[in-house]
Amino acid sequence: MYTEQTIHPLRTRMQQWRQAGERIALVPTMGNLHVGHLALVGQARQLVDRVVVSVFVNPGQFGAGEDYLSYPRSLEQDTDLLTQAEVDLMFVPGVDELYPGGQRGATYVGVPGLSEILCGASRPGHFCGVATVVTKLFNCVQPDIAVFGEKDYQQLLVIRKMTEELCLSVEIVAVPTVREADGLAFSSRNAYLTAEQRKCAPLLYNSLLLCKKRILSGEQNYAVLMSQAQKNLRAAGFDPDYFEIRRADSLTEPTGDGHQLVILAAASLARTRLIDNVRFTP
Ligand code: PAJ
Repeated sequence: MYTEQTIHPLRTRMQQWRQAGERIALVPTMGNLHVGHLALVGQARQLVDRVVVSVFVNPGQFGAGEDYLSYPRSLEQDTDLLTQAEVDLMFVPGVDELYPGGQRGATYVGVPGLSEILCGASRPGHFCGVATVVTKLFNCVQPDIAVFGEKDYQQLLVIRKMTEELCLSVEIVAVPTVREADGLAFSSRNAYLTAEQRKCAPLLYNSLLLCKKRILSGEQNYAVLMSQAQKNLRAAGFDPDYFEIRRADSLTEPTGDGHQLVILAAASLARTRLIDNVRFTP
């Protein structure tokens, strides 16, 4: 596996591969890799000739008081995992490389509307930071496809919309959420949980499944379902941020005409914020 820390030699290698007629996939990550990330890599491996994984803890998507400095970093272990997964190149840029104008540089990419609801309402600027860094990574690698997880469902829709509206020539591929045996979605932030919180954490997914089951068995009062779920989460020690039933294609309120739905939740256990979602057709 090649490792590059700067854009110029990365571009040279991408050009060589493209000239040889090879198709390239990019899997953007913030590192501290787990089974969920590796599923994205596995999907990419099946679709193209060359797989590039970026590992970059993006300061632009963390708000003041969030965990940018303490975000888990494990580059040595990530390198081993990506080597075993037969990744062709790991791109590990420094902050100055991706933010030549400084972290508060003047240029950014925004997807207003979609970025301001749900997670965006509690984390202002977060999706703008994501869209901006993903655009930079797309420009550095110029991949044919880019692979993202459904675990971050709102992020996936923001990236899809940005790609479409900026006429970027990259195909966005989504991979279903990978879970632990008890249902908890793999996440780098699970490392923050104490043993007791870890035991409680699968309730987030279970509450999504219960809500889905009640909708499938005919419950139509979504407001009641959402508030009951929040109440149950609170009783179990979570501090819920939102628990919402939305249209899967746009994250707008459901209109009851058979569209696919997604139930999305964000809730904290002490200072650890967990998110999850389930998508289904009623
Ligand atoms: P990160 O949290 O490291 O996630 C990288 C990718 O892995 C994202 O597409 C995310 O949805 C996916 N992923 C995480 N946990 C998963 C799971 N349990 N199952 C399936 N996929 C999972 O998301 C980011 O980084 C950043 O915002 C990034 C897109 C890299 C921009 O900085």
